[in-house]
Amino acid sequence: MEINSDFSQRAVVRPGDVDWVPSPMAGVDRKMLDRIGDEVARATSIVRYAPKSYFSEHEHGGGEEFIVLDGVFSDEHGDYPAGTYVRNPIGSRHTPRSDDGCTIFVKLHQFDPTDTEQMVVDTRSAEFQPGLVPGLSVLSLHSHPSENVALVRWEPGTRFNTHRHWGGEEILVLEGTFQDEHADYPAGSWLRSPHMSEHTPFSEEGCLIYVKTGHLMDASAPATA
Ligand SMILES: [Fe+2]
Ligand SMILES: [Fe+2]
Repeated sequence: MEINSDFSQRAVVRPGDVDWVPSPMAGVDRKMLDRIGDEVARATSIVRYAPKSYFSEHEHGGGEEFIVLDGVFSDEHGDYPAGTYVRNPIGSRHTPRSDDGCTIFVKLHQFDPTDTEQMVVDTRSAEFQPGLVPGLSVLSLHSHPSENVALVRWEPGTRFNTHRHWGGEEILVLEGTFQDEHADYPAGSWLRSPHMSEHTPFSEEGCLIYVKTGHLMDASAPATA
């Protein structure tokens, strides 16, 4: 299966653009944002767990990264409420579940083999730092030669400089509406901008976004299981 699998192309998925697709596990549905592969895939998805649903035990052959969008995600290691950012490196394993239901944004099979840091961050209690322009604040989540991940908060009316994306940029809008000269992206929108693309972003109403940069240079190669 291939969805938005040409990483040299810009891709945008808004909340109503794709339907929920049942996973092999009852009560676990997903919206596929990009995907190369079948059940074991290099995949970026929004996954919804119904109350009392679970997923079978699995090992992360290519690593797993997720942020909890609502509800509480759980596994045998802990309970992760909305706003929790988790990285489970290559070789980690767990049996996920949700007692009351949850929705997560998850990226599978995208870890550089040298990126071995396991981490859990409660982004709702973490302190954001001032960004490069007034009105912008940044919570850096992860830095590795293969990628940088942050949450960025935009106060209403914030405008950023025109910039080029070395290694590409991927954004999930968590709150509010993110904008650039191409379009408006309401909460729940996902956009992927290729290596060396350029834009001038802003936000009239303010927003909170998840941003990953630098990871789309050679992402067209399917990960192996
Ligand atoms: Fe997992
Ligand atoms: Fe950008």
